[in-house]
Amino acid sequence: MRTLIFNGSPRKDGDTAALIYALCSRLHGEIFTVNAYYDGISPCTDCRFCMKNSGCAINDKMTDVYEQIKASDNIVIASPIFFSELTGPLLSVMSRLQTLFCAAHFREEKREQILKRGAVILTGGNDLGSQKAENTAQILLKAMGAADIFPPVCCKNTDTLPAAENAAALEDMERIANFFNGGCRI
Ligand SMILES: Cc1cc2nc3c(=O)[nH]c(=O)nc-3n(C[C@H](O)[C@H](O)[C@H](O)COP(=O)(O)O)c2cc1C
Repeated sequence: MRTLIFNGSPRKDGDTAALIYALCSRLHGEIFTVNAYYDGISPCTDCRFCMKNSGCAINDKMTDVYEQIKASDNIVIASPIFFSELTGPLLSVMSRLQTLFCAAHFREEKREQILKRGAVILTGGNDLGSQKAENTAQILLKAMGAADIFPPVCCKNTDTLPAAENAAALEDMERIANFFNGGCRI
């Protein structure tokens, strides 16, 4: 089993990292992580290369990530909420999924059908809405071929209770791990 995790947090020991750690400690198989702030992946420049050609005109770490997307059984989008959305650098990395969109809509390529599972893990300092970030993350997971998505988990109020100490959020990581490892959602 292979799991691909996109981490949208700038804080290496922050709340999102704590939840990713809790999830990974329970996951079977191989794990590949993309760190939006630190992996040097450039944004899409809308050069239109991928309207006619497979892959991407930009040659950077995203080339490996495309392979990981194809090969993964599970994909996770984990991010702090910034102004109700996923963080800017994570959205920037995700803009490179345009080639997957073009594969279906312009190049008319057939997608290899591996049934992928997905999960959304969000952290927020307060208890304001997470709906926008959840919707965006789910659109991106579907673009990567995740058809079966675990109900989004949002660990709120991290200003007063860090995610690492939030028992409910840690239990949710266990549920996601069970879901990916082949069990059920409960
Ligand atoms: C620029 C910025 C914008 C933020 N906007 C929100 C927000 O809209 N809603 C919210 O609940 N928290 C917001 N926060 C708080 C973070 O989401 C919160 O501290 C989160 O736990 C940080 O996760 P991390 O430690 O993994 O980076 C914001 C923080 C920053 C720096």
